[in-house]
Amino acid sequence: MLALKPIPRALRFFAASPPRRWARAQFVPLLLLASAGNLFADALGSLGSPRWHWTAATGAFCGGAMAEAGPRSERLAVVTGGNKGVGYFAAQQLLGAGLQVVIACRSEALAKEAAARLGCEYELLDISHSPSIEAFAKTLESKYGRLDVLVNNAAIAFKASDPTPFAGQTGPTLKTNFFGTAELTDRLLPLLRASAASGGQPRLVNVASMAGALRQVSPQLQQQFSSPALDRAGLDALVRKFAADVRAERHKQEGWGNSNYGFSKLAVIAYTKLVAREEGTGMRVNACCPGYCKTDMSNNRGGQSPEVGARNAVLLALLPDSGPSGAFFQNEANSAW
Ligand SMILES: NC(=O)c1ccc[n+]([C@@H]2O[C@H](COP(=O)([O-])OP(=O)(O)OC[C@H]3O[C@@H](n4cnc5c(N)ncnc54)[C@H](OP(=O)(O)O)[C@@H]3O)[C@@H](O)[C@H]2O)c1
Repeated sequence: MLALKPIPRALRFFAASPPRRWARAQFVPLLLLASAGNLFADALGSLGSPRWHWTAATGAFCGGAMAEAGPRSERLAVVTGGNKGVGYFAAQQLLGAGLQVVIACRSEALAKEAAARLGCEYELLDISHSPSIEAFAKTLESKYGRLDVLVNNAAIAFKASDPTPFAGQTGPTLKTNFFGTAELTDRLLPLLRASAASGGQPRLVNVASMAGALRQVSPQLQQQFSSPALDRAGLDALVRKFAADVRAERHKQEGWGNSNYGFSKLAVIAYTKLVAREEGTGMRVNACCPGYCKTDMSNNRGGQSPEVGARNAVLLALLPDSGPSGAFFQNEANSAW
């Protein structure tokens, strides 16, 4: 039967926030197209065609090409550290936009509880532990067989009150926030590339921070990190030099900043731009800052709710093909690094 479908939840998500002019300009025409697609799908359905698989999210954000590609399961998104804070709300909003979501968490008890509240799946993952990354990737491949959206949200930040010396915080911070994020991503890139090949419109979103601003390092280092010629070996060497200079207590003389967390996020943004260059038009690869959010990481001091902060990652996860790649977003807009 031909029935009018309600406005997709994804459209309400964008329409409800006044500052998102860029996003609205990009998405609303697609969303309207999708609504028309829903109607058309129902019309086809009434003629006995079972082929159409429009959902609010895939229809809206994958456009006509998806429809032409024939039936396909809904897009699959993985959100690391989705059991709380920004990641929890990113998972919730992606579910609301019609994606299938898997939260990837290091604590089974927390993951189980959050997944039950969200109504999604969970898998175990500790991004600071290579065997856990490998086990997680294998589970994704065998149990789900696909990946369309990866939101690298998991990270740590030592509290200001933590007695661990600065040099002692460098290793764990870089291991989780930079090396772990990059290792997981590199391991999952083949699945994201396969998504492109099947019309799944892959998106990689790295949750970084405004604390990762380029200006924290010397002009010479800024040039090296932002160079379009920076490759994996070059980035790896720079990150290891920071760690070595901290160990040798000469990081300030060598032009580094004085924040392990800030530097780890700078490196994540550089990595994001590097992967965006490598993947070209086949994938949208971007980083964002959720803003200073009220979460455990900020001792609940942030001025922004994690629900609002999560919108930055969700916006990038749902980008249309015409959206940017290699960008850094904050306040739901493209921003200078
Ligand atoms: N809050 C802010 O003001 C703010 C500002 C700028 C950027 N950010 C960024 O936003 C993202 C989310 O932060 P948040 O504020 O939501 O922090 P949060 O509440 O502390 O949540 C961090 C999440 O990451 C997970 N995690 C940490 N280490 C992990 C590991 N090795 N393997 C798997 N998961 C791990 C945590 O798991 P457990 O529950 O097991 O600890 C938790 O689920 C982070 O990337 C953060 O750097 C936050």
